[in-house]
Amino acid sequence: MAEPTLQKKLQDKVAIVTGGASGIGEATARLFALHGARAVVIADIQDQKGQDVAASIGAHCSYFRCDVSDEVQVKSLVESTVQTYGRLDIMFSNAGILSKSMQTVLDLDLYNFDRLMAVNVRGTAACVKHAAKAMVEGGVRGSVICTASVGATLGTEIFTDYTMSKHAILGLVKCASMQLGAHGIRVNCVSPGPTMTSIVNASSFQFQSVEDAEKMQSSLGLKGGKEVMVPDHVAGAVLYLASEDSQFVSGHNLVLDGGFKT
Ligand code: NAI
Repeated sequence: MAEPTLQKKLQDKVAIVTGGASGIGEATARLFALHGARAVVIADIQDQKGQDVAASIGAHCSYFRCDVSDEVQVKSLVESTVQTYGRLDIMFSNAGILSKSMQTVLDLDLYNFDRLMAVNVRGTAACVKHAAKAMVEGGVRGSVICTASVGATLGTEIFTDYTMSKHAILGLVKCASMQLGAHGIRVNCVSPGPTMTSIVNASSFQFQSVEDAEKMQSSLGLKGGKEVMVPDHVAGAVLYLASEDSQFVSGHNLVLDGGFKT
């Protein structure tokens, strides 16, 4: 029997993926390329990893160094993409960092607070702003997707600063979707629960093993399964929001939490 052919969802699209050198961004860049994107630009600050990932994806993928907390760099990322590929259809604003240590209100470290806000909040705002400008100027009915978190709508015990930053992303998505709808531009976000990536392993709140992650995952809604959430699970949701399958979805927060609710 013949192999079923993949129905490609992003034929000819040009996409930027920030934080694309690892984790959720990397998985999404790979999926975008698999679905026929004409160009996927990985934007990150990990040069070697970003270049390696782009090379392994192939000719349709390139790496651009960009610290999203710096608006000048974000502007030049978007301008260079449009100059090189003629347009921008999809911005996946996904780069983010987690609190370095437990951050309750009583011991908030306001130095690291500023850096976290600069990356997570200012960085996301810069990506949405410059992508939207390029889409409006180019007459492109594009899709902008941000990565928030389950912490975007809930309080958390230990990540006050991170939780605040993800709430802010939700506010941005709501405003931007209202304002950009007139241009046919959709703005949405994904909100993953705990996902096995380096951001989790680098934090003080580490999963030391798959067993730890399974323990955490078992506190979520879907019980009984052994599987933990991995970047591919989130990438599928991002693909949906990037593609025409979601053409009437805007201002939405697509939560991937296995049904977990407080
Ligand atoms: P990751 O650490 O594997 O990927 C994050 C990427 O962002 C890295 O490649 C990193 O170099 C890049 N990055 C960091 N600062 C940057 C900057 N200033 N400019 C450009 N790139 C920068 O982690 P993961 O999990 O894939 O994170 C992606 C997004 O998912 C983040 O926004 C994170 O907050 C969010 N998220 C992750 C969850 C998880 O459990 N892993 C749960 C909910 C949300």
